[in-house]
Amino acid sequence: MHNLFSVEGKRVLITGSTQGLGLGMARGFVEAGALVIINGRNQDKVKQVQNELSAYGKVVGYAFDVTYQPQVKQCIDRIEQEVGPLDVLINNAGIHRRAPLEEMTVEDWTTVVEVNLNAVFYVSQCVAAHMIKRRRGKIINISSLNAEAARPSIANYCAAKGGIKMLTKAMATEWGRYNIQTNAIGPGYFLTALTQKLADDPEFDAWVRQEVPMGRWGRPEELIGTALYLSSAASDYVNGHTIYVDGGWRAAL
Ligand SMILES: NC(=O)c1ccc[n+]([C@@H]2O[C@H](COP(=O)([O-])OP(=O)(O)OC[C@H]3O[C@@H](n4cnc5c(N)ncnc54)[C@H](OP(=O)(O)O)[C@@H]3O)[C@@H](O)[C@H]2O)c1
Repeated sequence: MHNLFSVEGKRVLITGSTQGLGLGMARGFVEAGALVIINGRNQDKVKQVQNELSAYGKVVGYAFDVTYQPQVKQCIDRIEQEVGPLDVLINNAGIHRRAPLEEMTVEDWTTVVEVNLNAVFYVSQCVAAHMIKRRRGKIINISSLNAEAARPSIANYCAAKGGIKMLTKAMATEWGRYNIQTNAIGPGYFLTALTQKLADDPEFDAWVRQEVPMGRWGRPEELIGTALYLSSAASDYVNGHTIYVDGGWRAAL
């Protein structure tokens, strides 16, 4: 039973893992004995996180922009060659550009959809090309509670995260036959740089504490367990689902 949840020795690429939820998961996987590939656009930040986490286990870093297709393919192929076959891909990189829908610029719309949805397709397709040959792999897409419930001023983000929910089902449908399991994790409100502005707003902070049944924000380390489960043999027949890690918020919507 002990080995059922093991990720020891697995190679795990986590996009956008230089801070926030990605960094939290990276630390969890390193401590669980996986070899983690750190990613972000900033080479210095990638190097710094790589150095910090190296104290706990095996870590390498590859800086690239998940939206820049030619570079994505080149980097995934390099990782496969230099680090070894990827067992797990976690599509975590994500951004916000907030504006009321009637004022949202096309640039704000396309930038968010490009990073939060299109890049999940770009990176997954490149990684899956290798996983399909091996007839084995796990893909985890980081969605959001906003795939289920909208909030004002984030229509671009809601549309992208809603898209991830269906893209996850599509990947599960097409790649299940190759023994690749694709699932998503939908975090509720977690304290990170992405949500710092909201947490600093007393009204919004009070709203979160009131609406979330557990009465508090999530902590980045609280995503680790679900990510480990979806990366391990324990979830080998779980395919196409979104698991919400939200302190019960969706249950109470
Ligand atoms: N925090 C929450 O409450 C919450 C709730 C639901 C869902 N989520 C989702 O969880 C994921 C992580 O969020 P977070 O709160 O941890 O955000 P964060 O603290 O802002 O971290 C985002 C990470 O993504 C990287 N990144 C951004 N654009 C990138 C690109 N084009 N290519 C490669 N890396 C890129 C950033 O590094 P660089 O900027 O250096 O590239 C950073 O490492 C996102 O998908 C977000 O939508 C978060």
